[in-house]
Amino acid sequence: MNLNLNGKTALVTGAGSGIGQAVALAFAREGANVVLTDLKQESLDETVKLIEQANKDVQTVTVIADAGNPDDHQKAVDAAMETFGRLDAAVNNAGMGGEAVPVAEVNVKNWQKVLEVNLSGVFYGMQAQLNAMLGGEGGSIVNVASILGQAGWANGAAYVASKHGVVGLTRTAALDYAQKGVRVNAVGPGFIETPILGQDRQALDYLASLHPMGRLGKPEEIAHLIVFLSSPLASLITGAYYNADGGYLAK
Ligand SMILES: NC(=O)c1ccc[n+]([C@@H]2O[C@H](COP(=O)([O-])OP(=O)(O)OC[C@H]3O[C@@H](n4cnc5c(N)ncnc54)[C@H](O)[C@@H]3O)[C@@H](O)[C@H]2O)c1
Repeated sequence: MNLNLNGKTALVTGAGSGIGQAVALAFAREGANVVLTDLKQESLDETVKLIEQANKDVQTVTVIADAGNPDDHQKAVDAAMETFGRLDAAVNNAGMGGEAVPVAEVNVKNWQKVLEVNLSGVFYGMQAQLNAMLGGEGGSIVNVASILGQAGWANGAAYVASKHGVVGLTRTAALDYAQKGVRVNAVGPGFIETPILGQDRQALDYLASLHPMGRLGKPEEIAHLIVFLSSPLASLITGAYYNADGGYLAK
């Protein structure tokens, strides 16, 4: 299957780790130049190194950017336009977990931080990305939600609310731009083995047991879905929310 991404430009937030790193690498393998953003240069450097090993024919640009800051998203889009003259695909992936307490005990500052990064971050990102795509040849945006964009999770109020918000925001943006050449979709990963889950083996085994497939997902398994949705092969798909979750939501 040829995804036809040669010469395209893809922007990935949170590209220094986990799912974002796998997505950036998958875009590069398919021939796209990649703009990578994250909080720390060292983590971005690691992703750039992996991309250089995977495909010498693509170029990368790194931008230190806080997902909760609209200006940083604009900086990343400007970098794409200045370096490559186009933005074809954007993946709003940067995200954080919240504190594990019941609703009445949620610290308001923590609530605001999680909503700012996980939900407003996607909104800020899309505003900058849409303007570039609408002024060019159109494009595709994929927002990383979660299975917790559809199901609840005890003691996870801020995270769950933020991910439900990402799904609704995605659907609405898809409707806004359905006739304007920009497709907008969301993905809902089940629990994926990345640093966000921590390293407690017993806790990871418990999370794995919640999935009918009996295992955690791998970042690459989410990256493949995202890169497909970003490609011309997904030309009819917009406003969709696809789960890749080992059967979690089928229960
Ligand atoms: N791992 C899972 O089980 C899982 C499941 C469903 C959804 N997700 C979502 O997938 C996305 C990626 O998570 P991951 O599992 O790869 O975790 P990760 O911790 O490996 O990666 C998250 C990346 O986002 C970056 N980030 C965090 N806050 C940021 C901010 N304010 N500005 C910019 N970058 C920031 C981190 O530096 C990190 O590089 C997140 O949105 C997460 O909610 C993860």
